[in-house]
Amino acid sequence: MFSIQVLDKKQISSCLHMTFPRYRFAIEKSPCPVVVAMMFYGKPIGCVFAKFNPEKKHAFIYSLFVQKRYQKKGIGSSLLKRLEEELQKKDCQEISTVYTEGDFSKTIESILKKQNWEKPTSLEVLYELPRKSLSRLLSTSWVKKLSLPSYFQVTPWTNLSEEQVNELENEKPYPDDLSPFVKSPELMDEATSLALVRDGKICGWMLTFWQNENALVFNCFFVREELQKVGVGVAFLKESIQLCDEVYGKDRLKKIIAKSLPENASMIYFVENRLGPYLDKIIRNYQAKKTYLM
Ligand SMILES: CC(C)(COP(=O)(O)OP(=O)(O)OC[C@H]1O[C@@H](n2cnc3c(N)ncnc32)[C@H](O)[C@@H]1OP(=O)(O)O)[C@@H](O)C(=O)NCCC(=O)NCCS
Repeated sequence: MFSIQVLDKKQISSCLHMTFPRYRFAIEKSPCPVVVAMMFYGKPIGCVFAKFNPEKKHAFIYSLFVQKRYQKKGIGSSLLKRLEEELQKKDCQEISTVYTEGDFSKTIESILKKQNWEKPTSLEVLYELPRKSLSRLLSTSWVKKLSLPSYFQVTPWTNLSEEQVNELENEKPYPDDLSPFVKSPELMDEATSLALVRDGKICGWMLTFWQNENALVFNCFFVREELQKVGVGVAFLKESIQLCDEVYGKDRLKKIIAKSLPENASMIYFVENRLGPYLDKIIRNYQAKKTYLM
């Protein structure tokens, strides 16, 4: 027998295997998780995980999952519908989610469309380079020859002085999306997050975090306009990788992931022209939302 259930905090932990490992901790720690499961003879066979922020009246869906043998029976759609009903009882005004292009993205889009969500939009593009390809890139003669002019200094982001950082914040020569004042500074990897400095002034940055034990994400890359397209990006990358090997040992880094916003033309130019032939995988993430009329 099928039955749909809104789970309480205690029941949620027994369903965490039905979401991505990277979300499990956040769901457990969330002050207001909203989780709906489809049970079959008392056992969960599908689950939607969300968190609700009562101040912002906003909900975010982490994941929607239905076990393979129960797919295409309307269970995914029922879980989303029930979740939305629950959220509306809590006076939720907006719900959003992020998903990756892949085998199930068309199904997700179709389920969202049936529930009257807005058309999804492109969120970010992730470019993956395995260590082997990275080593090939770094050993090409043009990269070997590449060095930054001596009037530049590359320094760990965390070594910048308060004065330098304040000056940058006041001047703000970057678009909001490439702000180095990241939303989760605790995730930033101190060893490999770098700033480019000239005469004491910050001219660029490349900030990183570990996606997992062996994959380093180049999350936020910016150089002032006059320094774009002249190889600063690869020079930065070289420095960052060298530091990574020095600090963590050569065995740790197995993959790098360069992240770009779809509208960031200079990052796309950098990736396509400099990293293009070495890329292993391109992952596109989309976001979708729905606003409830009050
Ligand atoms: C994506 C996912 C949750 C969908 O769950 P689901 O239970 O199969 O979803 P539904 O059954 O409601 O809808 C899926 C399709 O089955 C169709 N369907 C629903 N009931 C049906 C029935 N009785 N007979 C035939 N088809 C049916 C739907 O119309 C829909 O088709 P469409 O894609 O052509 O529009 C599921 O495929 C899954 O868990 N995938 C792996 C995890 C994943 O990628 N999740 C998304 C990111 S978080």
